[in-house]
Order: sequence, then C-alpha cells, then structure tokens
Amino acid sequence: MRKLVAVFFLLFSIAAYGQDRVDRLLSRMTLEEKLGQLTQLVEDEPEFQPALQKGLVGSILNGEGAAKTNQLQRAALAGSRLKIPLLFGYDVIHGYRTIFPIPLAIASSWDPQLAELSARVAAREARAAGIRWTFAPMVDIARDARWGRIAEGAGEDPFLGAVMAAAYVRGFQSSGLLACAKHYAAYGAAEAGRDYNAVEMSERTLREVYLPPFHAAVDAGVATLMSAFESVNGAPATANGHLLDEILRREWKFKGFVVSDWDAVAELINHGVASSKEDAARKAITAGVDMDMWDNSYSTLAASVRAGRLPIAVVDRAVRRVLHAKAQAGLFDDPYIDERAAAAVTLTPEHRAAARRVAQHSIVLLKNERDLLPLAKSGRKIAVVGPLADSKDDMLGPWAAQGKGEEAVSALEGIRAVVGDTVAVEQADVIIAVLGERRSMSGEAASRASLDLPDDQQALLQSLVASGKPVVLVVMSGRPLSIAWPAEHVPAIVEAWFLGSESGNGLADVLFGDVNPSGKLPVTIPRAVGQVPIYYAHLPTGRPPNPQDKYTSKYLDVPIGPLYPFGFGLSYTKFDYSDLAISAPSMRPDGSLKVAATIRNAGDRAGEEIVQLYVADPVARVSRPVKELKGFQRVALKPGESRRVEFTITRRDLQFWWHDGWSAEPGEFKVWIGGSSAGGLEGKFDLVSK
Ligand code: BGC
Repeated sequence: MRKLVAVFFLLFSIAAYGQDRVDRLLSRMTLEEKLGQLTQLVEDEPEFQPALQKGLVGSILNGEGAAKTNQLQRAALAGSRLKIPLLFGYDVIHGYRTIFPIPLAIASSWDPQLAELSARVAAREARAAGIRWTFAPMVDIARDARWGRIAEGAGEDPFLGAVMAAAYVRGFQSSGLLACAKHYAAYGAAEAGRDYNAVEMSERTLREVYLPPFHAAVDAGVATLMSAFESVNGAPATANGHLLDEILRREWKFKGFVVSDWDAVAELINHGVASSKEDAARKAITAGVDMDMWDNSYSTLAASVRAGRLPIAVVDRAVRRVLHAKAQAGLFDDPYIDERAAAAVTLTPEHRAAARRVAQHSIVLLKNERDLLPLAKSGRKIAVVGPLADSKDDMLGPWAAQGKGEEAVSALEGIRAVVGDTVAVEQADVIIAVLGERRSMSGEAASRASLDLPDDQQALLQSLVASGKPVVLVVMSGRPLSIAWPAEHVPAIVEAWFLGSESGNGLADVLFGDVNPSGKLPVTIPRAVGQVPIYYAHLPTGRPPNPQDKYTSKYLDVPIGPLYPFGFGLSYTKFDYSDLAISAPSMRPDGSLKVAATIRNAGDRAGEEIVQLYVADPVARVSRPVKELKGFQRVALKPGESRRVEFTITRRDLQFWWHDGWSAEPGEFKVWIGGSSAGGLEGKFDLVSK
C-alpha cells in the first residue's frame, strides 16, 4: 500500500507536468542550457554567479532559507531563457532544525514508522526553508566501525537496512522532499574503514549485502540516487556501467536521476580512469551519472558533443530525467516558497515531541547488573560527569543540518529536569558517566584506527568505578566502541549514540524508567578494533573457533566472538520465548511457511520486544552465512502477558546470488526466532523442488 502511495505520488507529479512538456522544453534547449541543467554548484564557487546569470545552473547545493532560496530562484529565472527553475538540494540527514537521533540510532529502534516520522518532520521543516531535495537516506551497509560514516546509515544488515531505506524514502517524499539514496554503491566497504577508499568484493556479496537497501529505495519510488566516491573492483562507482546502467536501470527499472557525489566526477582522474575533466565527464555521463555535483565537469561536454565524442542522446537522456524530477518537486508549478511559513513549522513542540519519542526508542540498554536501572527519581543523590554530559553541540551528532547546539537538551539538563539538582562525585549515591565521541569524530572523513573511548575517558571511568559507588555508563558515539573494560566492570551501560535535539530528555526518560528501553543493536559491538570487520552474518569456516584448539579461526589475545551481538538489547523486564512451531515440514519454491513462537513478558513491567527471525542454509553449493535476518516485529506486552508472533517465509528469504541470478536450493534450512542474533529457538524445514 505504502509503495503504491509513493509510486502514485511520483506518477501524479510527473503527469501533472507531463512527459510532452518535458520533451517540448528539451527540444528548445541549446547544448549549453542542457549541460547547465546537469550542473550543480554551490554559491561560493567562482563559476556560480556568471553561470546563474546565463541560466546555466540546474541545481544548487547548500542554499537554504526561504528568503535566500527565493532570491536565488528569482536570479535563476531571470537568467534562464526558458524559465527553468533551480532545484535546491541539501543534506537533511536526520532532521533539519529539529534534530533527530543519527540514523544508526534510529536503526536501533528497528521501527520503520519512527524512521518515517523523522523523515516527515525533517521534510516539513526543510521544505519551508526552500529545500526540495535531500541527500538522504544514506543506505550504505557498514560492517567496519572504523568507518566514520557508519553513523549515517542503518548498520550492518541488509534486511534491516532495506526496511529502513524504504521508510525514509516514504517519509521524505510524502512530505514534499525528493529523496536521494546514497552512496551507490558499496561505499561502506572501504578498505580498512578508511573513508573514500577502494572496495573489492564479489558480485554475490554486492548483490546480497550492499545492494538490497538501494533496491528497496528504488522500489519505494526514490526520486534520485547519488553515485559513490570509491572504486568497486577497480571501476569507480561514478563511472561504473555495471552498477549504474545494468543493475540500476535495466534490472531495477529506476526512472529517476543520478547525481554524483561532491567532486566525484573530476576525481575519476585521481582514480586513474580518466585523463582530463572532459574525459571524466564523458565517462560519468555515459555510465549513467546525470548530474555533476560541484566540480563543474559537465560544462566540458559541449566540446565532446560538438566533436562527436559523445552522442547528444546521452545528454538528452540525463536532462529529461532532471526535468522530470523538477516537475515532481513541483517547481514548474510554483518555484517559490512562502517566506512566512517556516516559523510555524520549525522546531515546533510537536516536532520536538517526535524527536523525543524517536530518541527514547533509539537507546540500547547493554548491561544492567542487579537492576541498577531504572534509577529512582528521588531519594538518591546523583552526579553526572564526563566530557559529553553537558555538551549541547555534541548531542546533535554529525550532519546536523540547521540544528543548533543551544536548542538541544544535554544529558545533564535532561537529568536535572527529572531530579532537580545534581551533586559532585564525592557526595553522590550514584554516578552517571556520559562518555564517548565528540560529534566531529564520526560522519564523513572521520575514520578512526581505534575504537576505544577517546582521550583519557577510560581512566576517568576507572577512577569513578574505584570509588565503589554504582556507576551508569552512557556511551554517546557515532559507531560501536570497543568497551570491553566497562562491559566487565561497570554495572549498567546504555548506548545512546547521538540522540539529537531531545537527547537529554529521551535519555532521562529511559534512565528513570518512564520509558522501558527496547532498542536493539543494528551493529555488532567488537571487543577490540582488531576483530573488525565483525558481523553476525559471516560465512562459516572450516575451523570454527574453539578455545581449546589452537588451529581454529580466532585471535590469541581476545576472547572469541563479539562483546555484544547484532540484535541485542536489554529491557527493564524480561521476555521468554517458547513453543516454536513451523506450519509444515517442507515448503515448495512457490509456496510459503509460517514460523511462530510465543513471547511472554516474564517481568513486572510493561515492555516492548523486537522479535527477530533468522534463517540459514547449512548445505548449499556455496557457503552461506551462518544466519541471516529475515524478519522482525515489535511487540508490546504487559507484565505476564504473552503473544504468539508469526512470520511468513517465502523463497525470497532462502535465495542467494548464483552467477547471474537468484537461486534457492532444495534441502534443509534452519530457522530461529529470538531476541538477538545469538541463540533463539531453533527449528528446521526442507525446501523441496516440487
Ligand atoms: C558527501 C555526501 C553529501 C555531499 C553533499 C559529500 O562529501 O559524501 O554524502 O551528500 O557531500 O554535501
């Protein structure tokens, strides 16, 4: 249904402007005007003003604010012979002015409705500021926590990633902002987590792990995609015909347009696949990059076309796509924005409430010895310490658009709003240590070679623990940190990521028990950086790790396995799983099976559990991952209440990429229902050929 709505929105907008009108417009354009439509610039580039005055800019990046965008639009329309409006693009990643938790945190909610809500709110605020197009969602799978951009996506898993990708697309586009799934593709697999670095990967891994969120975004009707910076098996993503043409256009039937990442066209020269800007531009547009971000390389294509080095049809194809997107954004109907509208829809109490709700659900409780949490609201003196405790700016996380630190609620403020005054460590009964990364330590160009708590934070934590007082560790970070020492010595640990404008309130809601935490990890937390990449859906090895046997797959100096597994997260109550049942012993390829289990709230508090379904194919013609997530459901249960939770399995959940197609092999499959990727109730069934 949702997919239908998205598709309808797209078709309706295009129909309203009309294919014919786009074609008619195109037929009247000069070559330079066409290339202008394919050029995206920022205002401070020297080329910008002259190009704008001649109507040769198609899109502006980073121009925002109603008055500003209107002023730029007026200048563009005055310069444009055919009165083609500008498209304003901006990085609205997790909020515009009301900042939501970072996407990795939102993924911890495992709740696509919350992702969609955050995108709707962001779109409403951005739209009122003249933005028509966001460079989001970022849907890169990331299995290497050294990579700073892990913060911007939904973590390590393609299934969860695909669900979230579709939700963001629906959220943005249903509220009038064109979305852009990025960075196509496999950008998250950069060698050793070094940003912008090369990727080598099999076609199978590409198809099974890195592409599904993009495919889901396309199926949800995403208007645009952004090509990535890095090379994939030696072919830079921004000139990669396999990705951009064969898969995206021919297989997935994507109809929108592709924009390059910032300077990625010109960087084809650095990659060593182009000899000049013109060569780079020709390769990018031919592969399927329709718009060039920032480096103004496409202006060189006039010479290419005139000299017969590039067919005009390739340029026309790209221009047509861009004009359609402008029609879809409503720009031909009304290119301006009401300058008085923003105040009423920006940082409203309703938007802040939405951000708080999402923050509450993004928190993951990792450890809670002897029920230290939730804390009582009165009667105990609380100290709140650590470099992030009152740092309002850091709460916003990377890519905070127009978010302002002074409008964010810090952890300390949120806690004080509940308990009144806090005290110094010496007087305290309980210590809350708010540690982790500064916001500048994650996001783009923020790879780290260490996953430890930065600076001397661990020493601080050790001294707090040495005081003998109970310590609650709140970790703020844009990536999983290797908190092996705290996991052993600190009684309560909360992973809060960066929670946005309502950070402190959302955090306090959980710490003091107004909200029972329900987040689950969308990424594996390693014990040490040396284990990275570490993820649950790994392939088996001929020598599975065995602590008693030296010649097995493990490290000598860290225990086997992750510190906390994918899908893990505690609650203030406890959930029991029982009675796994599979509807039939076997399934035909065109059929389906139901797998069900009973979940019971065995504690004395109401709570929500994210029930997860995993499958594995233990014998196939290629090694298959030891487990793969194929479904999840959030269930709310009162104390003592139980619920039967049922999942449907179809062939799609059992298939793998084999040569040039998807294949599901007859034989036995395993299935688990549980509260994380580790353990769970186990069953099996057969896939039969007929
Ligand atoms: C980033 C993109 C972003 C673009 C525009 C690039 O450096 O990789 O994610 O959308 O800048 O700001």
